[in-house]
Amino acid sequence: MKNIKKAIIPAAGLGTRFLPVTKAMPKEMLPIVDKPTIEYIVEEAIDSGIEDIIIVTGKGKRAIEDHFDNSFELEETLIRKEKFELLEKIKKSAEVEIHYIRQKEALGLGHAIWCARKFIGDEPFAVLLGDDIIHSEKPGLSQLISEYEKNRASIIGVKYVPSEETHRYGIIDYKEKSGRKFLVKNFVEKPEQGTAPSNMAIIGRYILTPQIFDFLGKQKKGAGGEIQLTDAIQELNKIQSVYAYEIDGARYDVGEKLGFIQTTIELALTRDDLREPLTKYLYELLSNIEKMHVK
Ligand code: UTP
Repeated sequence: MKNIKKAIIPAAGLGTRFLPVTKAMPKEMLPIVDKPTIEYIVEEAIDSGIEDIIIVTGKGKRAIEDHFDNSFELEETLIRKEKFELLEKIKKSAEVEIHYIRQKEALGLGHAIWCARKFIGDEPFAVLLGDDIIHSEKPGLSQLISEYEKNRASIIGVKYVPSEETHRYGIIDYKEKSGRKFLVKNFVEKPEQGTAPSNMAIIGRYILTPQIFDFLGKQKKGAGGEIQLTDAIQELNKIQSVYAYEIDGARYDVGEKLGFIQTTIELALTRDDLREPLTKYLYELLSNIEKMHVK
């Protein structure tokens, strides 16, 4: 079996939890400090050894293609003004080939992955969701790739979530656990509150074998009336072992409002240029919060 060199980043969703801003702006382009969300994800893929990325886009997502396009005028200006640090920043994504395919209708995450099948062909591949950032020492995807290489079976990134949040995620039911790795029995997409088989939630990083496309092609609509990737993985699990791995690091869901605000604050606090003034501001804000008359 081949090594993992190709990745799909689905970014064609409607982003309804973030309306009205997502009417004309892709949620994957929401800035976290000074970088769009999707650029953090592309960088994680590059740092994990991915060579080719296909971004699944849709209506109103042109800004993503424009962002990763070359910008000769801007580059020339930065060179002329000797702003080499900024030049570095805008060129990092050029280390990987980025391709695009359109999902004509937002029929669900499973359908978005299916749209990229010809690009993937017959090899195992990675999926990184376009609105999930993982902040960790070793890149999240690279942790999954290391585990994948041990037994070359599909493996899904998971993270512990409290019981009151399990209904928002795909949840695993597992047969065995060894360290951070689980042998999965079942996958359940968004279980009703109180029915989740565990607290381990799928968090937007996957390594999948190409057999997943056999199931995605005939997958019926599932939770929320969408073609769900989790349902196809559940089918795949009937013919091949599928593992889950608890990724070490902080995971941020930029696709919902509170998650976006938390991501912005926490990632700003990791930056040398912002840590001190932001910490000072947060202390002042918290010590005055009772006195504020915000309605
Ligand atoms: P989400 O379910 O978080 O995205 O999908 P959404 O549907 O855009 O969000 P809400 O619920 O309406 O607010 C996770 C990832 O899968 C992509 C999204 O763009 C996001 O990056 N996706 C989802 C697709 O590419 N196509 C789809 O049909 C659905």
